[in-house]
Order: sequence, then structure tokens, then C-alpha cells
Amino acid sequence: MRRLVIEGLSRSPRQLPAWFLYDAEGSRLFEQICQQPEYSLTATETALLEREAAAIVASLGPGTLVEFGAGSARKVSPLLAAMEASGQQSAYVALDISAEHLQSACDQLQRRHPTVPILGICCDYSRLEALPAHPLLSGPAHLGFFPGSSLGNFTPAEARALLAQFRRLLGPAGQLLIGIDQPKAVARLEAAYNDAAGVSAAFARNLLTRLNRDLGANFDLGAFRYRARWIPEASWIEMALISEREQTVTVADRPWRFTAGEALITETSAKYTPEAFLALAAQAGWQGAGRWSDPAGDLSLHRLVQAD
Ligand code: AVI
Repeated sequence: MRRLVIEGLSRSPRQLPAWFLYDAEGSRLFEQICQQPEYSLTATETALLEREAAAIVASLGPGTLVEFGAGSARKVSPLLAAMEASGQQSAYVALDISAEHLQSACDQLQRRHPTVPILGICCDYSRLEALPAHPLLSGPAHLGFFPGSSLGNFTPAEARALLAQFRRLLGPAGQLLIGIDQPKAVARLEAAYNDAAGVSAAFARNLLTRLNRDLGANFDLGAFRYRARWIPEASWIEMALISEREQTVTVADRPWRFTAGEALITETSAKYTPEAFLALAAQAGWQGAGRWSDPAGDLSLHRLVQAD
């Protein structure tokens, strides 16, 4: 963390890896963001999954669903219910870095879907060389699941590498079901990342609390304001903390000078049109084989197969 923070603060503009936002408090705040009326992504994707689950499951065919970064594993339930209803052979494997999250999420899911074999594997999927050997993963058909438009928090180069990693892990017969948020009216996008209740701002500011606690930094939280803005050239929302005045902050035992108005970017959230996303996926060896969207066209679930 120390090395990455020093690297990130040395960049111009300064930017830290988005995953630093997710300590226990950050994860709690993110769950709250998902319930804000302005942040419709979660509700839209959940409704889409519920509405289209039977069609999605029919098009995926039988196999083991493998969710990357399952978290609370709430979104997979409609797919498991559709698999149970169709009588097709299925299983669910949740991969997540937090063992605690994984245990309770899998326990809850198992109660809801008693006939589906469910397994949690605590790991960092971005660094796995292969899926672990286990009977649930011994069949040929691995159906990757990556909802929530989480790909948007990676730079295009990182996103390409991650999609290629999924392809390697899922094997030649693997498929990927991935949720991708799309560009929309700027006012809506900016409001989604700067909700009136201030939860998005608290989420970003919590990064400074984390740096103060974990790296002995001395950020004055009141001396930074939160800003979320759409960057059209990059097709992403940029979230940043802006220094209210000239100030020097100690982080990782070094002084860092911030000018008045200088940004510390906490994360970016890219939005892809279906065409732009499929072009990115193609660079990682995937090709589109199906797409489901909400009626307003805010978000798509893409089914990808290996382009061979
Ligand atoms: C997790 N990820 C897809 C969220 C997003 O929409 O980019 C993270 C987020 N940050 C602030 N609001 C939501």
C-alpha cells in the first residue's frame, strides 16, 4: 500500500488505486451509495437480471457460474433461481478476497437455493493462474459473472488485461456475463456520483481517513472538497478530492505539497456504449453472443464467448 500510495501521489494529476476505497467503512458506504436514488445502476441491473434471468440462463446453457469479486453475492440469485426452475445442471462458485463476506454471502445464498451446489473461494482472482481444482470446477463449461459495471473502475489497458485474465481462467469453452453501464445525460451521471445525501463524498473522503490510519498521514479532511465530473474525451466520470488551499500533508513519512484547487483523483468510472465495449472485449479475445438492456438503455448485460 505504501509503495502504491507513493507512486500514486507522485503522478500528475495525483491518483490512487480505486480499490483503496474499500476498507470496512468504505465497503459499508458503497452499499449505501447503491441505495441512493441518484445511483440507479444497482437497481437497474438487479431489475434487468430479474426480468431476463430465464432468457439469460437458456442462452448460457448448463455449467458452473463463477462470480469474480462476489461481495455480498446478491445479484446472482435470479440466475440461480432460473437455473433451478429450468432443471438444468448448475453450480455456483463465488470468488472474493474477503473470507468473512464470502462465508456469510454463500450461507445466505445456500439457504435461498438449497438444491444448487455453492462454493466460496477466498482469493484475489486478478492474480490466479488457474481456477482451483474442485469437483464443481471440473466440467468444461465455466460461466463467468462480473456484474455491477465494475470493469469501469479500471483504465482501458487494465480492463483489457482483466478481460484476458477472465478468458484464461474460464478456459476455451468459457463464457462471460458482464454488466456494463452506458453513457447517458451528463447531469444524471454527475448526480449519480455526487448524491444529495453526500454518501459519495463521504466514500471518497474515507480514503483520507484510511491513509491517516494505515499510513500515518495527517490529511485535514475539512481541507478537501469532493468533485465528480464527466470527462467526455475519456467517457468516464472522474471522482476527486480538491485541495481547498495550499497545504503540505505528510503521507508515508514524506511531505506532499498540494496547491489550492489541486485534485487527488480517487477513482474513475468509465461508461461504454455496447459498440465500444465489444471493441475492447475483442482485444482480449472475446466476442459478443447476446445482450440484454433495460428499457431506458442505461445499462447492458453482455454475454461473451471466446473468439478462438
Ligand atoms: C463499483 N463501481 C462499479 C462503482 C461505480 O459506479 O463506478 C464505484 C462507485 N464509486 C462511487 N460511486 C460508485
